Order: sequence, then C-alpha cells, then structure tokens
Amino acid sequence: MRLKSGCTVFFFWMTLGVFFFPMACKSPTSSSSTPDPGGGNGGGSGSSFSSDVQPLYNGKCTICHSGTAATAGLDLSTGNAYANTVNVDSKQDLTKKLILPSDADNSYIVIKVEGRQTIGDRMPSGTGDLSAVEIQTLKTWINDGAQNN
Ligand code: HEC
Repeated sequence: MRLKSGCTVFFFWMTLGVFFFPMACKSPTSSSSTPDPGGGNGGGSGSSFSSDVQPLYNGKCTICHSGTAATAGLDLSTGNAYANTVNVDSKQDLTKKLILPSDADNSYIVIKVEGRQTIGDRMPSGTGDLSAVEIQTLKTWINDGAQNN
C-alpha cells in the first residue's frame, strides 16, 4: 500500500516535470537559421547573449551606458543593448559597426575594451579594464555570429 501510493506521487511529479520543464526553459525566440561564420569557430560553442554578454554589460557598462541620457548615446541595458549595437554604426568611428557579427576584431566595442581606439578612452572608462576572460567572452559570442540568444 505504502509503496504503491509513493509510486503514484512519484509519477505525478514526473509527469509535471516532463511537461513543464521544457516549457519553462524553452525560449520563444529560437533563431531560425544559424549561419556558420566560416571562420572555423562556428556554432555550437554555446555562447549566449542573454547569459554571457548582457550580464557583462550590466556589471561593467550600464552604470554609464543606460537610460535616456546614456553616455555617448549608447544604451547597453537589458532589452536595449542588442538592438543598439549589432550592425549599428559607432558614433565615434563612422567606418565601424559597434558589433559586426562574426568579426570581433573589427567590432568597435571590442576595439574600445581592448584599448585599440584612436578616439576617446579605453572602456570601461575609469573603472578598470575588463579581464582577458571577459573580453574573450564578448569576442567568442561575436565570432559565433552575434546571435540574439
Ligand atoms: C564611467 C562611465 C563609463 C563606463 C563604466 C563605460 N563607458 Fe563607454 N563611454 C563612456 C564615455 C564618457 C564615452 C565617450 C567618450 C569616450 O569614448 O571616451 C563612452 C563611449 C563608448 C563607446 C563609443 C560609442 C560609439 O558609438 O562610438 C563605446 C563602444 C563604449 N563606450 C563601450 C563601453 C562598454 C562596452 C563598456 C563596458 C565594458 C563601457 N563603455 C563602460 C563612459 C563609460
């Protein structure tokens, strides 16, 4: 008797888990196509904008770059950063995109955090450079195609 009711409870939760777990975790914006950047570093490395890049912006950049009066007109806050950067022209260097998908070295945000810019300061301005790991996180995501994932 005991065993039987225990099993019933177990299966009840199993069933809930099976049905609700994928629903809770599945993002509604799964991208339709995943172009291989062709650089050999293509898809599947698991870099994610929402869990890798946005937290970095939130920790190191949005203190200046957010809101309506965002510094340099660059709003990197959650919900805005992707649309404000990917394939968007830099205001400082008009020959560069802030994020150029699959080309981290020519993305102006990377140029600014690596200190290769000729205009203005290295970013984050005055609050200490990003670590090599943080810069690599950004570059890997860009070289994976800068997907909104
Ligand atoms: C303490 C304030 C501050 C922080 C923190 C900061 N920035 Fe900036 N940012 C500025 C200022 C001021 C400018 C304009 C002057 C300059 O470039 O030095 C700027 C300009 C920029 C530009 C140029 C925008 C364009 O359109 O060309 C980029 C890109 C940039 N920041 C990226 C970042 C990133 C990425 C971070 C976080 C890693 C960051 N910034 C953190 C103050 C800040």
